[in-house]
Amino acid sequence: MVAPSLLAANFANLEAEMEWFNRSVADWLHLDIMDGVFVPNISFGFPVLQHVARICKKPLDVHLMIVQPEKFVSEVKALGAYMMNVHYEACTHLHRVVWQIHEAGMKAGVTLNPATPVSVLEDIASDVDLILLMSVNPGFGGQEFIPNTLEKIKALRRLLDRKGSKALIEVDGGVNLETGRLLRQAGADVLVSGSFIFHAPDPAKACETLAKL
Ligand code: DX5
Ligand code: ZN
Repeated sequence: MVAPSLLAANFANLEAEMEWFNRSVADWLHLDIMDGVFVPNISFGFPVLQHVARICKKPLDVHLMIVQPEKFVSEVKALGAYMMNVHYEACTHLHRVVWQIHEAGMKAGVTLNPATPVSVLEDIASDVDLILLMSVNPGFGGQEFIPNTLEKIKALRRLLDRKGSKALIEVDGGVNLETGRLLRQAGADVLVSGSFIFHAPDPAKACETLAKL
């Protein structure tokens, strides 16, 4: 599966971006919300995303790079989001947050920064629908892929199998044709990609090539 990341889109013409996106083979639209505290950058917030959600015809995969993401469960739900991803590093009571997301009727994803080992998922793996592994330090698009992610995917797959968890493995950051191929071979289910897709001469085609890997 492929989830183009809106962070790399032309924000001055989101309608045109959504036009090709809705007709493409993309599976989900990945939305990166930043707060300038959890990550050293600010992207877009709910007022902007409400407009995007209205014209997007595919499931929304919301990635919250913010402290206290539990405060925004109802805002994410109001967007009509399919998946709500929260960072392990941002949640003191992760189990409760996952429960709140499910209670709101959304799928729950837990995200790990590059330096966080997959072993921390031991007691939450069976309760979540997706694990999002960051393959760059979150906060910016266009960064270089961290190769250690490939080993992490394999370790995560072993952990999920041992726990009997059906959670999907999603990877985010520096995904292009080359790294995408390696990620698929390592066992990634969902590839998030910003710059590679949105900055391509033909974004829909770039999406298709990633989807076929
Ligand atoms: C980074 C974001 C990513 C970003 C990926 O903090 O979480 O979703 O858009 O961008 P690329 O694909 O350009 O690395
Ligand atoms: Zn993201």
